[in-house]
Amino acid sequence: MSHHYIQFKDVDYSYPGGKKALDGVSFRINHGEKVALLGVNGAGKSTLLLHTNGLLLPQSGEVNIGDVPVGKKTLPIVRQNVGMVFQNPDDQLFMSTVEEDVAFGPANMGLPEEEIRRRVSSALHAVGAEDLANRSPWQLSGGQKRRVAIATVLSMEPNILVLDEPTSNLDWSARRQLIGLLKGFDHTILVATHDLAMVNELCGRILVIDHGRIIADSDPGILERDERLRVMLGIE
Ligand SMILES: Nc1ncnc2c1ncn2[C@@H]1O[C@H](COP(=O)(O)OP(=O)(O)OP(=O)(O)O)[C@@H](O)[C@H]1O
Ligand SMILES: [Mg+2]
Repeated sequence: MSHHYIQFKDVDYSYPGGKKALDGVSFRINHGEKVALLGVNGAGKSTLLLHTNGLLLPQSGEVNIGDVPVGKKTLPIVRQNVGMVFQNPDDQLFMSTVEEDVAFGPANMGLPEEEIRRRVSSALHAVGAEDLANRSPWQLSGGQKRRVAIATVLSMEPNILVLDEPTSNLDWSARRQLIGLLKGFDHTILVATHDLAMVNELCGRILVIDHGRIIADSDPGILERDERLRVMLGIE
């Protein structure tokens, strides 16, 4: 796959029986960019992110990851490249130990045992969760689950990281640690967040979504310049 960019072209999506959750969404994120997706509750952030790795497929328009169009046939290659951290960690954790959960992706990729062990320990180390390796994911606190969910994605070593509100539930130091970790990630990041510290420290660009439409695509400084946007987002 050449160039790990994300491109949406005129993407529409409606949930069954619902109104339009994405309405003509177009943008391109180039390799190495770190982009925040902002919008109020229900604006369409999670719906958009779920389109980046084919968990939802566009009803019209198209999504491309590099030169690969996201569709049923390309899901394996798309998912090897796009690592997705869900809004709710419970959607990501299903094995009986943390270690097994973090090993699940690499094992599925058919990697040798030694490489799987290396990736598990490196991913758990990256999120500061080595001590949780033998615990049951179901018996962790919200913030611990969040860290482990991030590790299950890091262990796949994706080229593109997509995260849905990853700092919710994290304490101050875990939040600092995560922002630092993401800053050190060489590849592309798209992150839905309400966390302005994360936006300012991590992201060189923001996309703002409102009622399923992208209404701003700019540098984060626009939040200071554009009062209307601040009011719309409910930022003091
Ligand atoms: N499974 C679903 N079935 C029907 N409608 C849905 C479903 N999931 C989301 N929606 C609707 O689609 C719209 C966009 O929802 P989405 O979850 O993408 O918003 P969001 O920006 O992620 O919000 P939040 O900040 O609360 O996570 C909302 O109107 C929501 O009610
Ligand atoms: Mg959401």
